[in-house]
Amino acid sequence: MKATVITYGCQMNEYDTHLVESQLVSLGADLVQGVDEADFVLVNTCAVRGKPVDKVRSLLGTLRKIKAQRPLVVGMMGCLAQLEEGQQMARKFEVDVLLGPGSLLDIGQALESNERFWGLQFKDELHEHIPPAPTGKLQAHLTIMRGCDHHCTYCIVPTTRGPQVSRSPDDILRELDLQLAAGVQEVTLLGQNVNAYGVDQGARLAGYPSFADLLRLVGRSGVRRIKFTTSHPMNFTEDVAAAMAETPAVCEFVHLPVQSGSNHVLRRMAREYTREKYLQHIAEIRRHLPHAVLATDIIVGFPGETEEDFQDTLSLYDEVGYDSAYMFIYSPRPGTPSYKHFADLPRELKTERLQRLIARQKEWSARKNAEKVGSVQEVLLRGDAHDAGFLEGHTRGNHPTVVPKAIGASQAGVYPVRIEHATPHMMYGRILDASGEPLPEQPRLNPEAAAVTSPLQMA
Ligand code: 5AD
Ligand code: SF4
Repeated sequence: MKATVITYGCQMNEYDTHLVESQLVSLGADLVQGVDEADFVLVNTCAVRGKPVDKVRSLLGTLRKIKAQRPLVVGMMGCLAQLEEGQQMARKFEVDVLLGPGSLLDIGQALESNERFWGLQFKDELHEHIPPAPTGKLQAHLTIMRGCDHHCTYCIVPTTRGPQVSRSPDDILRELDLQLAAGVQEVTLLGQNVNAYGVDQGARLAGYPSFADLLRLVGRSGVRRIKFTTSHPMNFTEDVAAAMAETPAVCEFVHLPVQSGSNHVLRRMAREYTREKYLQHIAEIRRHLPHAVLATDIIVGFPGETEEDFQDTLSLYDEVGYDSAYMFIYSPRPGTPSYKHFADLPRELKTERLQRLIARQKEWSARKNAEKVGSVQEVLLRGDAHDAGFLEGHTRGNHPTVVPKAIGASQAGVYPVRIEHATPHMMYGRILDASGEPLPEQPRLNPEAAAVTSPLQMA
């Protein structure tokens, strides 16, 4: 069988895609790129906003057309598969295999079945399952918990992924060992709310470390860089900031979604913290990590958000001075409390606010990135950039970075890089040798193309 998995959504989905792909390989399937070559196409879906749902709908429409012309098995997994909305879609577009986020290990059974197979149970075995390490990659994801015990009124995730279940520290460390043996240099610990690790449904699990202690534990494994995502401010403790500061492998990068700067909106979102409490967490982070790189998620146009509320979001943005932000227009999701109880604001108003927020974010990212010009950053270079004369990667603070290939440093790896130029979205630099001098650039096959691609060459 030739199989391909198409992934939408977050890093949790990327991890699940890897997990299912490794199951497919162990079942004897060949993984192929693209639908044309495949006889099994599995779509890993996201349901968090309307847009990814629309994308899946249109892809399933295309796949049904292909299915009318040649034999093709179509599968759907991930958050949308768990919802009635997704199951209706699956019926309409003649999907053969449907796996919710808790039943990924049913893939073998699903493919053996001669009839339509729908798996919607949350299976405990999933939490104990240790997928093989990705091959030939410097970066890996590692799920430390699944599901979420919060009930933010806008969010469909507690419905799709169920209540929080933390994986055992032993399983986490075992998976990490496999990754280390495979050459992984940066691991990102994943969960809907990693700060609540070990505290499932309100109760602390016996023998499980706190998230801060898990960071310390993972820090002793020998992995070079550790990141984690994502955090709920409600469960953030100062000890996490302390653990970050005392564990050199943990990158000084914190993604702490605030969603809104207005207490009135935060209350309606049921976020369980105030603006003041959130700013206190930021102060704690800065106290332990003065150079922390801060990122956030913000929703604009939540039902009932007034201009004054929105101004509170802008002023919070300024007060924190984020390095980057994911910004979203509120998207009413059927099945969430805010969909049921609150009226959606007009589209134009939401769009206009988003544009104003993006403008503010750009100013801050430009300023923050410009401050890095002249500094030396440890950059994990993943591989070739769009222009093959360059490598692309990211810093410990997650800044996307591009460098020209250098003699002796023309392949993926972790290198010291002096930043020479920055835009709000990208940093450009040169790889340094042991004495801190830039390595000589590799001769280029096509120097004209470089002048267009790299601001370094333009300077
Ligand atoms: N509308 C818009 N954005 C949403 N998010 C979650 N649910 C919604 C929604 N209904 C955003 C939040 C969350 C991120 C993953 O997606 O900002 O942190
Ligand atoms: Fe949604 Fe809140 Fe859970 Fe994040 S923490 S997934 S926003 S319910």
